[in-house]
Amino acid sequence: MITTFVISAHPEARSFTAHWANATVQAAVAKGDTVLTSDLSSFDPSERSEHYAQPAAPFDVLKEQERASSSGTLPGDVAAEVEKLEAADRVIFHFPLWWFAPPAVLKGWFDRVLVHGRTHDVDRRFDTGRFRGREALFCVTTGASAAESGPDGKEGDTRLHLWPAAYTLRYLGFDVLEPVILHGVHGFHRGARKAELEERLAAALAGQVDLLSRFETLPRMRFNADTDFDASGRLKPTAPSVTPFIRRDA
Ligand SMILES: Cc1cc2nc3c(=O)[nH]c(=O)nc-3n(C[C@H](O)[C@H](O)[C@H](O)COP(=O)(O)O)c2cc1C
Repeated sequence: MITTFVISAHPEARSFTAHWANATVQAAVAKGDTVLTSDLSSFDPSERSEHYAQPAAPFDVLKEQERASSSGTLPGDVAAEVEKLEAADRVIFHFPLWWFAPPAVLKGWFDRVLVHGRTHDVDRRFDTGRFRGREALFCVTTGASAAESGPDGKEGDTRLHLWPAAYTLRYLGFDVLEPVILHGVHGFHRGARKAELEERLAAALAGQVDLLSRFETLPRMRFNADTDFDASGRLKPTAPSVTPFIRRDA
């Protein structure tokens, strides 16, 4: 039995992003998964001392998270999210691209929920991450067109914009699937373009059952292995560069 955790990071329940997340939930239920959900529309993304019962001063986030985790005093909203994350075999994130990145609420969810001392520590990260064998997928919408969002597009390559978020999950040990991205999603289309968009979005909603049925075979993002780096943490000359974020300067 697979446990699938579906996270929606959008402030509007009637948005396409929210409908797409619902389609994922329904598809996962239909195939017999145990399904957990989080709607981040009211999640507080700002990590700060007020969340903790008796925070040490000065506020040291990594130490405070570790202390709260080991004493069982994590903030309630964070504890609930950590439990879902730990229970999940698969985590599917739905969000729009905002300013070339996921919305702040998702970054804040990472900041607060990926608790130091619980979800990762210096001995449990990358190839030794706690979430090894688990899988993560981003389902993303952009307002910009596919051409503008490609490798030579004016908006920059959406896959690269998503790399820091993907690497966050890789840090925890997750296998991260290549993102599923729908481009040109916004409310300003008119006439034929509006009809074309509506058709595309309806197809994406209907296609979620098929997408989840093919989950095992969907392509994975490539990351360097721990052994690709030398003792100082730099890419070895013999190791491949699999992302522009970790490369050899010419
Ligand atoms: C604050 C904000 C920033 C945005 N930044 C981008 C961006 O950097 N690139 C882009 O392609 N679209 C951008 N958009 C457009 C959204 O990505 C688009 O409206 C959204 O994906 C549509 O999905 P939705 O209907 O579920 O909101 C932005 C929208 C907002 C509200």
